[in-house]
Formats: sequence, C-alpha cells, structure tokens
Amino acid sequence: MASEKPIVAVTCTAPVNIAVIKYWGKRDEELILPINSSLSVTLHQDQLKTTTTAAISKDFAEDRIWLNGQEEDVGQPRLQACLREIRRLARKRRSSGDEDPLPLSVSYKVHVASVNNFPTAAGLASSAAGYACLAYALARVYGVESDLSEVARRGSGSACRSLHGGFVEWQMGERADGKDSVARQVAPELHWPELRVLILVVSAEKKLMGSTVGMQTSVETSPLLRFRAKAVVPARMAEMTRCIKERDFQGFGQLTMKDSNQFHATCLDTFPPISYLSDTSRRIIHLVHCFNAHHGQTKARVAYTFDAGPNAVIFTLDNTVAEFVAAVRHSFPPKSNGDKFLKGLPVRPAPLSDELKAALGMDPTPGGVKYIIATQVGPGPQILDDPHAHLLGPDGLPKPAV
Ligand code: DP6
Repeated sequence: MASEKPIVAVTCTAPVNIAVIKYWGKRDEELILPINSSLSVTLHQDQLKTTTTAAISKDFAEDRIWLNGQEEDVGQPRLQACLREIRRLARKRRSSGDEDPLPLSVSYKVHVASVNNFPTAAGLASSAAGYACLAYALARVYGVESDLSEVARRGSGSACRSLHGGFVEWQMGERADGKDSVARQVAPELHWPELRVLILVVSAEKKLMGSTVGMQTSVETSPLLRFRAKAVVPARMAEMTRCIKERDFQGFGQLTMKDSNQFHATCLDTFPPISYLSDTSRRIIHLVHCFNAHHGQTKARVAYTFDAGPNAVIFTLDNTVAEFVAAVRHSFPPKSNGDKFLKGLPVRPAPLSDELKAALGMDPTPGGVKYIIATQVGPGPQILDDPHAHLLGPDGLPKPAV
C-alpha cells in the first residue's frame, strides 16, 4: 500500500513564449549561455500552459518525474542540472541564515508530475513552458526566492523567458559564469491590450532536427549567424523594446518578420543546411505580405514568426483578427474532419471582399493549416492554491486521471 506519510506539494502553471528577436546559438553549452540576447511575448495560459506539481517528502527514496502521465528518466542531464541548481540555491539560502520554512527539506527527494494542455510535439515550445514551470514549482517547494533564470535556463534556454508575463528579454550577459544571463520583463501583460496572437498549426509532427543540435551546428558553421549575433541583434533589441514600449505595431511587426527571416536564413547558411519551414509556411509568409500590401501597409498590419518548425505564429491587433482569419480560411480551406478549425479566443466571422481574395493571389491549399489557436499576451507562472489541483496524490504518485 502507498505511504500515507505527509508530503509537501506545490502546483504551478507556466506559459509558452514566442520570440520576436530569436535566440539561436550558445557560447557555453553546459551553462546554456546564448551568443545574443533575445526578446519574447508571453502567451496567455488560458490557451497554452504547462501545469506541474512538485512534492517532497523524507520518505521518497529517489527523485522521479512523470510527463503527461508517463514516467521519464530523471537522469537526463538537463533535468539533473535544474535539480542541482535549485538545491544549491536552497542550501545557499539556509546558510545565509534566512528562515527555512521546511527544515532539512533540501535533502529530501522530489517527485514531479507535469502536463501540457496542448500537444507536446506540435512544435509549440513546450520545453520552455515545461522547464519554467519546473523551476517555479521546485523553487516553491524548496523555499527558494532568488531569481530563477539560471534554473530554467539550464533546462532549455528559452525557458527563462517563460518566468515572466508580458514582454520579456533574455539578456545574454557577459560573465563566464552566466550570473548576468537573466530574463527580465520589458513591459507587463496588460501593456498592449489590443495585441492578438494566432498560432497557425501546420503540422503536428515531431520536428526533424531539434533546436539544441540545430543551433550547435549553426554556431560551428554559419558565418551569417556570427554576424547576426554581433552586428544585428544589439540594435534590434533596442528597436524592438522601443516598439513595444510605444505600442508601435508597424515597427513591431516588421522587425518580428525580419528577425524570423534572418533566423531561418542562418539555418540555410548552416552546413549541412537546416530548413524548418514547409511549403505551407512559405504560403503563409506570402499571404501575410499580400494582406499587408492590400491594406497599403508598407510595414505591417499582420506579422509572422516561425521557430524551429513549420507552424506560424501571427501577431496582429484586435481590429484585424477577424479579416485575417477569414483570409487564412479562404487560402487554406479546412478539411471537414470534425475538428474545430478555430480554437481559443472567439473570433467573429468576417466577410472577405473580392478585392482581398484577388490580392491574396494564390490557389487555395485545402488542409494546409490544420487549425488556428487564437490567444493574447498573458501573465507569468502562477501558483494554484487549490489542493485538488495537485497532479500527485498523498502517496506522491500521479493521480489516476493524469
Ligand atoms: C527557435 O530554448 O529550445 O525557438 O536552449 O537548446 O533548449 P535549448 O534551445 P531552445 O531554443 C529555442 C529556439 C527558438 C528561438 C527562441 O525561442 O528564441
């Protein structure tokens, strides 16, 4: 029978983030230190989130972890790095004389259970939300109150940006020990209420080459990547921050597209080349530029960005969402498979003018876009106070429903 001895459990949620100035390339593989700073938008957890319970008990014999109900190898180096780092911070706190609410807890083993409310392999940055959530939950359960950038970063670089809501920069830092490589909020969640995000899910298949190996090859072989990190990104970080602070959508959108394009150019400049975009991704790029041109926008009314996969993330303002969704529906008519084409925030149906249809200038590709998730900017990690939210039962094992 399971042990009924008391355990201390904490449950948190954490968001997905989408970079508008991309992180691609490490200067230190072990500490996960980037070759350039990056900047992202935190997406709302109503649509996309990871939920994680961390529980400690003196009766646990070993650290264990379950992801989406499946027990995983707790010995994975990145997971181990996060656990080591949080325990180091917890010990530091104790030795600095701060009051410890959980005596001896640093030596206790931890059980972790984590679930996503979206398909893990859909290419929707699940590792960022996952490691941010892990860092947040471990910090609460071990009583750590310091900056968690390093803990999350050791799991996945982009995860440190999911520790905050709104608009977030990951400053690359200069120190060899990475102490100044931290995530900071640039503007809060409610700063730009009109901003909307549409995720165009093109393919739910697992990607051909993961980010970690991909960026390693790029650092080794792409002169364009080195040029980008040194000569392009610093000015772009400043300009993007300005656009966000001033809510300048035209500037924000144009720079978002340019930075996505340059990131994918560095992938093509990698040897052997990497290509994450599919034909459908390129059709979406074309659609966005036709849509903007039709509206006489030299910069942007709608903007795309792509990470290490073919799905598009679209930024636009609330007054443009309905018409753009209609344009996507027209260009990629959903195949009637019973699934909802539009998920997330409601979008009212809008007519598409014949002029816009003609301006989109391509033959429709049925089923090219599988579905759209409509969302907006959201808050950082949250603690769930309700004990029913725990994914682990009083015996420290996943509850049956998980
Ligand atoms: C294209 O954070 O997944 O999404 O640090 O090796 O875990 P590791 O890589 P990861 O890379 C994300 C790359 C990106 C751009 C971005 O999010 O900035």
